[in-house]
Amino acid sequence: MTEAPPLVALRGASFAYEEGPPVLTGLDFAVREGRALALLGRNGSGKTTLMRLLSGGLRPREGELTVEGRPVRYDRKGLTRLRTTVQLVVQDPDDQLFAASVGQDVSFGPLNLGLPDAEVRARVAEALAALDISALADRPTHLLSYGQRKRTAIAGAVAMRPRVLILDEPTAGLDPDGQERLLATLDRLREGGTTVVMATHDVDLALRWADDAALLTPSGARTGPAADLLARTDLLAAAGLRLPWGVAVGQLLRARGLLGDADDGPRTPEELAALSAAHPTDR
Ligand SMILES: Nc1ncnc2c1ncn2[C@@H]1O[C@H](COP(=O)(O)OP(=O)(O)OP(=O)(O)O)[C@@H](O)[C@H]1O
Ligand SMILES: [Mg+2]
Repeated sequence: MTEAPPLVALRGASFAYEEGPPVLTGLDFAVREGRALALLGRNGSGKTTLMRLLSGGLRPREGELTVEGRPVRYDRKGLTRLRTTVQLVVQDPDDQLFAASVGQDVSFGPLNLGLPDAEVRARVAEALAALDISALADRPTHLLSYGQRKRTAIAGAVAMRPRVLILDEPTAGLDPDGQERLLATLDRLREGGTTVVMATHDVDLALRWADDAALLTPSGARTGPAADLLARTDLLAAAGLRLPWGVAVGQLLRARGLLGDADDGPRTPEELAALSAAHPTDR
């Protein structure tokens, strides 16, 4: 039996901005259905560029973008089809929001697909509820707080009911409670069948949230199970990242014989507390 092709993938993709040096060269990158994927790499490594290539906003100079193994066509029809599969939420909500009110902004994508009014209303209501901002539907977008603008931008993408939701640094600028609420929202979307990809500089968040991690380095993208990749100090250093807190604690516990060699370290303070309850010290 052959393995199903990835939901969305770039094969041998190269890209440079006009007049600029190459940003990505011969890149292979795959998003697998149902796997939460964290994209990590230093500033300027090309995360945002890669996400724009995946969502069709940019077109690779060489190589190709595929959806379920089929090359994407960059004509109107092909791009509309891509937009119903992949939605990108950019880092700065002010680059995404433009309508007068929250409800109008979130309805823009579905209206543009030419869906009937009732369907548009249903999708907007669903997206606002998913992001916990139903009460803000009539609020002018320019009066929203940063976190509320961020939620509105994500709701606009969710209203397209994409199979892959790509978020560029979605937790940046959110307070701890806002981060937790966003992660809970993403969990609910994942339970509903949406594949979620996020770019982040937060290795602790990536370890805790992601199934897979992708590290973007000058020699390409390296993708694998988050717990494995985020324990590789060599790869992390090449990507300008540090060891996640939980991996460091896990290494210490193993060295002290408090954790089995094959056991993963804690990913959160709560998991550390549970481990410590399971291994009471006799001193
Ligand atoms: N519109 C643009 N025109 C020209 N060069 C650009 C443009 N956008 C990005 N670049 C360049 O492309 C490279 C990759 O940028 P990109 O924004 O993809 O990186 P990133 O990994 O998202 O960085 P960060 O962590 O800072 O968000 C950088 O060298 C950047 O200067
Ligand atoms: Mg970026």
